[in-house]
Amino acid sequence: MRWISTRSANGKDNLAPYSQFNNLTFDPPYVMFSANQTHENERKDTTVNAETTGSFAWNICTWDLRHAMNVTSEQLPYGTDEFQSAGLEKVMTNTLKHPVPMVANSPIRFECTYYTTLRLPGNPPMGTVDVIIGRVVGVHIADSVLTDGLIDLKKVQPVARCGYHSYTVVRETFEMGPPGDGKMAYGLEGSAEANSEEQATREKKGVGAGNVEDLEVKV
Ligand SMILES: Cc1cc2nc3c(=O)[nH]c(=O)nc-3n(C[C@H](O)[C@H](O)[C@H](O)COP(=O)(O)O)c2cc1C
Repeated sequence: MRWISTRSANGKDNLAPYSQFNNLTFDPPYVMFSANQTHENERKDTTVNAETTGSFAWNICTWDLRHAMNVTSEQLPYGTDEFQSAGLEKVMTNTLKHPVPMVANSPIRFECTYYTTLRLPGNPPMGTVDVIIGRVVGVHIADSVLTDGLIDLKKVQPVARCGYHSYTVVRETFEMGPPGDGKMAYGLEGSAEANSEEQATREKKGVGAGNVEDLEVKV
């Protein structure tokens, strides 16, 4: 589970949980979340704010925060601050042009600039979905969830949704490396450094840049 936090163009804070989300790539990192229409067939507040301001934040939801997460899912009138209704402390982003509040007690938080919306048409009122994609431009990780410099999910205890009203919490992990020459690990490890070294090696060999288009980043 993740929370998406936003601030409207006129300064009203908003917070809502989204279980339909994913990370998309690593260099640079992009994330997505998928927002259905409301039961009145309108865009959700999070969608409106992300699209109109160009900013949102992505906050991991943990075991300790599960009840607050549930409270913030209530569909309240536009402009209502769910941080307040759930009694959650805010901390502001520090890299976004339009700053937004984040959940202070969430140990992993991403600051994101809106990139695009992919609208998948569906049946009214709630079936149409807006897949919002953002570029991660700032990352906050609490020292308390690190072991030897890496995120330790046993310390994070993230909550995941299992469909219907069931959830699980991650308290156990195991290690398994990929097969092959090891290059797949660059992506699995999210290593921009290894990706850039790979490109430098290709250029030295005269292979060129490939067919990748130039990055166009909307901030
Ligand atoms: C566990 C949980 C997961 C949810 N996941 C999603 C989701 O992935 N997409 C979605 O559109 N709504 C999801 N919701 C519902 C939204 O949180 C809810 O509609 C919220 O009021 C939207 O707020 P907003 O209008 O401020 O964006 C979820 C609710 C809960 C409780």
